[in-house]
Amino acid sequence: MKREQFSSSLGFVLAAAGSAVGIGNLVAFPVMASKNGGAAFLIMYAFFVFFICLPVMLAEMSLGRHTRQNPLGAYTEIGQNRAWRTVGWMSVITPFMIGVFYLVITVWIFGYLGKSVLGQLNELAAPDSFGNFINSNELFVYMAVVIGLTFFILQGGVKQGIEKAARVLMPMLFIMLIALVIYVMTLDNAMLGVRFFLIPEFDKLTGKVLNGALAQAFFSLSLAMGILITYGSYIQKNNNIVHAGKMVAGLSVLVACCSGLLILPAVFSFNPDIQLSTLSESSISMIFTFLPKIFLAMQADIGYFGASFVAGFFFLLVFFAALTSLVSIIEVPVCSLMDQKGVSRRTALFSLGAAMIALAVICALSFGRVELFSNLLSYGGLNKSFFDLVYDIFYETILPLNGLLLCLFVIYRWKKHNLDAEISQGNSTFAGSLLQKYVNFSLGTFIPLILAVIFVNTVSTIFFGKNLLF
Ligand code: PHE
Repeated sequence: MKREQFSSSLGFVLAAAGSAVGIGNLVAFPVMASKNGGAAFLIMYAFFVFFICLPVMLAEMSLGRHTRQNPLGAYTEIGQNRAWRTVGWMSVITPFMIGVFYLVITVWIFGYLGKSVLGQLNELAAPDSFGNFINSNELFVYMAVVIGLTFFILQGGVKQGIEKAARVLMPMLFIMLIALVIYVMTLDNAMLGVRFFLIPEFDKLTGKVLNGALAQAFFSLSLAMGILITYGSYIQKNNNIVHAGKMVAGLSVLVACCSGLLILPAVFSFNPDIQLSTLSESSISMIFTFLPKIFLAMQADIGYFGASFVAGFFFLLVFFAALTSLVSIIEVPVCSLMDQKGVSRRTALFSLGAAMIALAVICALSFGRVELFSNLLSYGGLNKSFFDLVYDIFYETILPLNGLLLCLFVIYRWKKHNLDAEISQGNSTFAGSLLQKYVNFSLGTFIPLILAVIFVNTVSTIFFGKNLLF
C-alpha cells in the first residue's frame, strides 16, 4: 500500500503546529513566565526553542521522512539491533501513555466548555467545583464525546483526517486567540498585566527556572514523543524540512506569547493588586480554578450571559488546541500498529482505543474515587496516584531520555551525512551552511548532554526525593 502523505508543506506545518500548540503554550507557558521573570523567561524560552529544540525537531522529521516509517520501524530499520529496537518501542509506548493523561486533561477542558455553554459558569467558579467535576459521573459523558471526536478525525487518515482537522481548527484557533487578546486589552488595568509580562527580570532566571523552561519548550514542541517522526514520514520529498520546522517553532512561540498577553491582563484586571507569588503554581489550577473566577467576575460589565460567552470562547480555544495535540499523539501508536502488523487503520484504532480508554478511565478514577488507584504507591517521599505515576514515568522521566537517545541515534548510528542528505532534499542551501554545522555539532554534543543531566536529575528528584542541581 502506498504511504499516506500530507497534501503540501502547508498541510504538514498546520498539522505539526496543531500538535505543538496545546495546553502547554496556552496555559503552562503564561503561568511559568509570569512567575519567573516575564520577558526574561520569554527570551530564554525562545532561545531554547530555536537553539536546542529546533535541531531535535529537524532530526525527527528527517528520520521519519527518510525511513517512511513509524518510530519503531525507523529505529529497527536503521538501528539493526535489539537495543535500538527497544528504543523504538519506547518511542511508541511513551506517546501512548502520555496520550492517556493528555486525554484526561482534554476531557476536563471539554467539560468546562460544555458547562460554560450550558450556563453553569457560576458553578465552575465555586470553590470545590474542579474536585467535584473530575470525580463526577458526568465526566464520562464528556469523555465519550472527546474519544468519539478524536477517533472520527483519525479514522479519516492523514490527508482527510489529521490534515483536514488542522486546516479547519488551527486558523480558527489563531483568530479566536487574537480576538480574545483584543478583548482583554479593553478591560480596566489590562496594561498592568502587559507591563508585568513584558518587563524582564533577569535575576529570576535560576537554574531551576532554566530547567523548567527547557522541559517546557521540549514538551511544547511535541519532541521525543515520536510524533514528528510519524508526521515526518508523511512529508513529501520535495518539501523543505528546515522551513517547515522554523514555521512550526515560530508559531508555537507566537501562540505562547499571545497567550501571555491574554491571561496576564485578564488576571490583573480582575485584581490589580495581585501578588504573583499568590498565583497558582500549576497550570491545572490556573485554568480550572482561577480562570473561571475571572470569567465570572466579568459579569459586572457584560452580564452573566456575556461572561459565559467569553468563558466558552476561551475553553473552545483551548479545546481545539488540545484536540489537535491529542490526535497527533494517538497517531503514533496507530501508525506503528498499521505499519508493523499490516492492519487497517480502523482495526488499529479500535484495538488501541480500547486499551487507551481503559487506562484513561483508571486515571479518571485515581483522584479519590477508587482508593487503590488514588493511593497506588509511594516514592520520593510522596503518595502517588495512577495518574501521577503515568505522568512521572512517561512525561517527566522517559521524555528527556527518549530525546537524548534520539540525538545519539541520528548522529552516531544513522550518521551525520545521511541526516544532511535527507534535509538537503527540498532545501538546496542546507549543505555547507552554518545551520548544517550547528545542527550536526549540537545534536552530537551538548544537546544530548543537557538532556542527560535533566534525565538524571529528574530521576533523582522524583524517585529519590533529592534534587541534585538546586
Ligand atoms: N505540545 C503540546 C502542548 O503544548 C503537548 C503535547 C503534544 C502533548 C502532543 C501531547 C501530545 O500542550
